[in-house]
Amino acid sequence: MADVKKIAVIAGDGIGPEVVAEAIKVMNKTEELFGYKFSFEQGLFGGIAIDEKGTPLPQDTLDMCKRADAVLLGAVGGPKWDNNPKELRPETGLLGIRKALGLFSNIRPATIFDCLKEASTLKPEVLEGTDLIVVRELTGGIYFGEKFRREGENGQEAVDTCVYNVAEVERIVRQAFEIAQKRRKFLTSVDKANVLETSRLWREVVNRIAPEYPDVELEHVLVDNCAMQLLRRPSSFDVIVTENMFGDILSDEAAMLTGSIGMLSSASLGEGAFGLYEPVHGSAPDIAGRGIANPIATILSVALMFRLTFGYEDAAKSIEDAVAEVLNAGHRTGDIAVDKSKAIGTQAMGELIVAAMRK
Ligand code: NAI
Ligand code: MG
Repeated sequence: MADVKKIAVIAGDGIGPEVVAEAIKVMNKTEELFGYKFSFEQGLFGGIAIDEKGTPLPQDTLDMCKRADAVLLGAVGGPKWDNNPKELRPETGLLGIRKALGLFSNIRPATIFDCLKEASTLKPEVLEGTDLIVVRELTGGIYFGEKFRREGENGQEAVDTCVYNVAEVERIVRQAFEIAQKRRKFLTSVDKANVLETSRLWREVVNRIAPEYPDVELEHVLVDNCAMQLLRRPSSFDVIVTENMFGDILSDEAAMLTGSIGMLSSASLGEGAFGLYEPVHGSAPDIAGRGIANPIATILSVALMFRLTFGYEDAAKSIEDAVAEVLNAGHRTGDIAVDKSKAIGTQAMGELIVAAMRK
């Protein structure tokens, strides 16, 4: 009898509840096919939590996440709350939950589904075989360093500081090595070690711990070169690990290789197996409530959860194969359809994927 994995479900706002509902169908099908067991607990978060509880991140939602093995998050936000003060904004809840759960890395796969190559702005032959993951440090670096203004000799100056310590670099780099071990065993560490002291420290740490992962091949690439190579030869990457700001930029660049935001999954991880899994897209208020959102990003986030938190590689693969099969058969939601008149809805897409899952 498999142990029961506790999943905290935070549907959120806009299309969040619509896409999360389909992801849960996929999890239920996994129980049926593979015998894994899940228990679900739902919590309020984001705009809906502001309306009902007066705060974007209620304590009981946070407690629910802390006792769970993994969190599945839809999306939060919407015009209704855009003009609220900071503490009453959905996005404040997002930063708060990542911090409270100690999630120091953000993981974004960019995988090309062959039949969607036409959705990308790059040439199909360049994209062929692209299957990479960006591992971005999430809680350090220049976004979190001291910032201030001062009067300089030529008027006002602004200062942002970038700080990394050895422990912060080591934990994210180890995580990236471990992810690479479960994939094609090729790690690209991205820095600007020709200029930045934090990057020199980063590279020292990477080189010091690399011998502990002898099965993983390591390369160092400078960030500006990496930005070029992502467009020139994306299929040559497997796992890319980098600091916060470089990762912010490179992960958005890598995301665009795939063409549609409705396809992109993500994980935020801390120490241990616990993780928060969510689509990269937001709450899409422009299409919310119409049953037309693409649920694939959220469904692929479940596959990531199975792989990274639970080690259920068989179930992860089953989901990814089912998504590929449904796309290969020509089914499309509006965001990825060339002929929009033939587009199918959120539920229809979810159900086709469930039906295509096999042991
Ligand atoms: P968005 O990702 O919600 O939407 C951008 C565009 O992509 C829209 O045209 C939308 O219709 C489309 N889109 C997004 N997801 C889709 C899907 N699954 N299927 C089909 N089409 C999809 O980004 P936007 O418009 O900048 O933000 C809307 C709200 O979401 C804002 O309140 C923002 O703060 C919030 N947001 C929340 C995030 C989160 O919860 N992690 C991340 C990004 C934005
Ligand atoms: Mg960004």
